[in-house]
Amino acid sequence: MHLLAIDPPHLASGLAVVQLTLHVLAATIWVGGQLVVAGLLPTVRGLGDSAPRQVAKAFGRLSWPAYWLLIATGVWNYLAVDHKVATNGWNAVFGIKMILVVAAGLGAYLHTRASTPRGRGIYAGVGTLASIAALVMGVALAG
Ligand code: HEM
Repeated sequence: MHLLAIDPPHLASGLAVVQLTLHVLAATIWVGGQLVVAGLLPTVRGLGDSAPRQVAKAFGRLSWPAYWLLIATGVWNYLAVDHKVATNGWNAVFGIKMILVVAAGLGAYLHTRASTPRGRGIYAGVGTLASIAALVMGVALAG
């Protein structure tokens, strides 16, 4: 009889819904925001020389709080996991995700500090790719 081995569809508890909703909502702003702003850039450039900088600054006022919220709710997610039964694979993916989270934040920060268009482009690419990869790892961790 293998029926008991099947994990039936089940609802998350009330607190887990709050915790994961905040984590995923912050991820939509941090990751989705970067992609949307990149997609709008050609139009923004047409609005004037200072427009891209102004939009980037305005986006930073949304994206950095979302990044810190991802870290706070991520710690909360991590503490909610039963580590006695976590597999080696889960722990490895978690470790890789933490490296990607640091790379995402560092890439985004260095992007804002870069003085050449080439530097800005490279750091934006690193930050965005690391952010998307961290998101994929997060989906894997959620099982
Ligand atoms: C760039 C930053 C981050 C992004 C984009 C991100 C994204 C995600 C996403 C999309 C999920 C899947 C949620 C679901 O499907 O229910 C997830 C799950 C998870 N995240 Fe993150 N995350 C980030 C940072 C962090 C940090 C800093 C930590 C820990 C300190 C963390 C710990 C976790 C854990 C443990 C889960 C699994 C939750 C569960 O068991 O359901 N995340 N993450």
